Amino acid sequence: MTRGRWFSTWAAAALGGGLLFVLAGCEGSQSALGPGGAGARELARLWWLMAAGAVVIFLFVIGCAAYATRVAPRARPDFAGTWFILGGGVALPVVVLSALLTYSFVLGRDLSRMLGPEALRIEVVGAQWWWEVRYLRPGRSEPVVSANELRLPVGEPVELVLSATDVIHSFWLPSIAGKRDMIPGQITYLVLEVEEPGIYRGQCAEYCGGPHALMAFYALAEAPDDFAAWLEREAAPAAAPANSFLEEGRDLFLTSGCGACHTIRGTPADGQLGPDLTHVGGRLSLAAGILPNNVGTIAGWIADAQHIKPANKMPSFNIFSGAELRALAAYLASLE
Ligand code: CUA
Repeated sequence: MTRGRWFSTWAAAALGGGLLFVLAGCEGSQSALGPGGAGARELARLWWLMAAGAVVIFLFVIGCAAYATRVAPRARPDFAGTWFILGGGVALPVVVLSALLTYSFVLGRDLSRMLGPEALRIEVVGAQWWWEVRYLRPGRSEPVVSANELRLPVGEPVELVLSATDVIHSFWLPSIAGKRDMIPGQITYLVLEVEEPGIYRGQCAEYCGGPHALMAFYALAEAPDDFAAWLEREAAPAAAPANSFLEEGRDLFLTSGCGACHTIRGTPADGQLGPDLTHVGGRLSLAAGILPNNVGTIAGWIADAQHIKPANKMPSFNIFSGAELRALAAYLASLE
């Protein structure tokens, strides 16, 4: 292959690959380039600015190389001159990198703002390998405890109060805001403002051992009225079983040791080690964003949690008969 053909093949491959990369990242519920919130929009702008700058500089360098080697080899000494090297090798990087650094500092300061006391605050606690979520309502002392899912009112800034119980995790909801570390013994803050109603996906962004990759969550953004109504329902204790089948499920939950780790408000189960299950049936996903949430997946999770999410802290409970497992799963699914 001649050098010219090699060069054009390489350039076409690079261009195609770059285009694919860009297109693949633009969509979906977990994309920093498909922003649905104010913070993510600013970050996406910074990303595009940096990408455009990188393309311009890349094309300039390749253009110089092509010109000096292919078009006018006699011009080569010009590219080796002191002024060209000082201008392109020292002055240009200093100017470009200083401008970018300043811009990112200003952006970082804007994104680190905090809110007044009247704002909604949500404590999110990272744990191996799930999220505790506590809604602190202005003017009310009792938090509303939930897990593995975030509900957000559209158009209202919300302050997340982030921490961790065991190791460092990182809260990342790419379509809405930048990521923020969750550190044991320390509080960090992140203000979110969702602009579009919808379902967004988040992911733990700091390796936290074992099933780190299976530590995700969904965020549901809805109109402020719907959010307020949901929060009232979420604050209430669990519904009593509506029939004898669900009653059997509840009794199995209470007599099999589930309550040692899980709380269901309104029942004697008050464990603190695992997610609060008071309204588990109303969530989109199970096992921290890993499974869709229905009777079948709940039964599968109870019977074989270690196969679905290896090394997570819930043992596989293969002690139940099929009928018992169905009753237990139906009871949990009924807790909306
Ligand atoms: Cu939690 Cu990675």
